Amino acid sequence: MARFNLSHRVVLAPMTRCRALNEIPNAALAEFYAQRSTPGGFLITEGTSISPTSFGFSHVPGIYTDEQVEAWRNVVDAVHAKGSTIFCQLWHVGRASHPVYQPGGAAPISSTSNPISEKWKVIMPDGSLGVFTEPRALTTAEICEVVEHYRLSAINAIRAGFDGVEIHGAHGYLIDQFLKDAINDRTDEYGGSLENRCRFLMQVIEAVASAIGAERVAVRISPAIDHMDAFDSDPLGLGLEVIERLNKFQKEKGTKLTYLHVTQPRFTLMQTVSENEEEKVYMQKWRKAYEGTFMCSGGFTRESGMEAVAEGHADLVSFGRLYISNPDLVSRFKLNAPLTKYNRNTFYTHDPVIGYTDYPFLHNETHTN
Ligand SMILES: Cc1cc2nc3c(=O)[nH]c(=O)nc-3n(C[C@H](O)[C@H](O)[C@H](O)COP(=O)(O)O)c2cc1C
Repeated sequence: MARFNLSHRVVLAPMTRCRALNEIPNAALAEFYAQRSTPGGFLITEGTSISPTSFGFSHVPGIYTDEQVEAWRNVVDAVHAKGSTIFCQLWHVGRASHPVYQPGGAAPISSTSNPISEKWKVIMPDGSLGVFTEPRALTTAEICEVVEHYRLSAINAIRAGFDGVEIHGAHGYLIDQFLKDAINDRTDEYGGSLENRCRFLMQVIEAVASAIGAERVAVRISPAIDHMDAFDSDPLGLGLEVIERLNKFQKEKGTKLTYLHVTQPRFTLMQTVSENEEEKVYMQKWRKAYEGTFMCSGGFTRESGMEAVAEGHADLVSFGRLYISNPDLVSRFKLNAPLTKYNRNTFYTHDPVIGYTDYPFLHNETHTN
């Protein structure tokens, strides 16, 4: 894949785990990622904040200070020592935040000044569930500053030793708040037409790729997912439009992005949604349209993952929840061994061990860290 030699197609999906106390990656993160590393494997970090306004959860790591960069180096080194490649997922939550997470208790920023509906809840610092508050729509000039934060974070990721970055354009967070027509109500050049709604994403990709090279840049989108009210009236068309722009970008640069990562609609954090045939067809159309490596995610099992690859619907499959509770997921898949069930209650808690690095390995001797 691009400049990377992988030995298998099982990828660790990016997952927020809230273990980076005070936004600094620590030994627990190094252990978690090293446990899930295999020779020739590929890992994506949890969403990592690109600036002080990017947070919407407690204890999410950042990548915008020197201290954070230094701390990430230990995590990256632990993963590289085990032979895996690791990308840092660059994240800004936009309006999926709360003033408690914002500098000076300010309103979160977004494409819009409309809040996320009460159907969705924000996890407050004490673990209780809160209501999302009204965001402040970014001015046109401020959007350029956010693009710059992505660029600087990508440079920091490379300084920390990461092999590349994945731009999080999915799941109702800041970039998706520009892409989706049910959220983006702007009247400037960032709103309205599909071209305008894609502008922010494309500017971020352009800035990041110009800083670290397109072959180290991946993009994640979820056109058909309505997480955090991120509806679009034409998800298929939106996905195809983004893909057309990515193809054009790659042609102009003469270099491919590392991969395009698309989340299947059958996943939501609240529940596993039953598979919808129409949405499966979307994925196949996007895969066909994209001229590069295609990764999919969302509700895959060993069998459905193998099927997706065998039928040419994906080059790589990322696994989230199963990889939380099975650090040796790759070996278990190889052996078709039983899987440990994950405990949802510890997804976002802060203990460095419980529900994080204490899931069992099939063979104790493989647990070397
Ligand atoms: C606890 C948890 C945290 C997640 N955090 C992120 C994240 O930070 N960035 C992201 O792009 N996706 C995130 N996701 C989505 C996963 O990357 C993945 O797409 C999703 O879990 C579906 O795959 P699965 O069915 O294999 O779990 C998260 C999922 C879970 C369960």
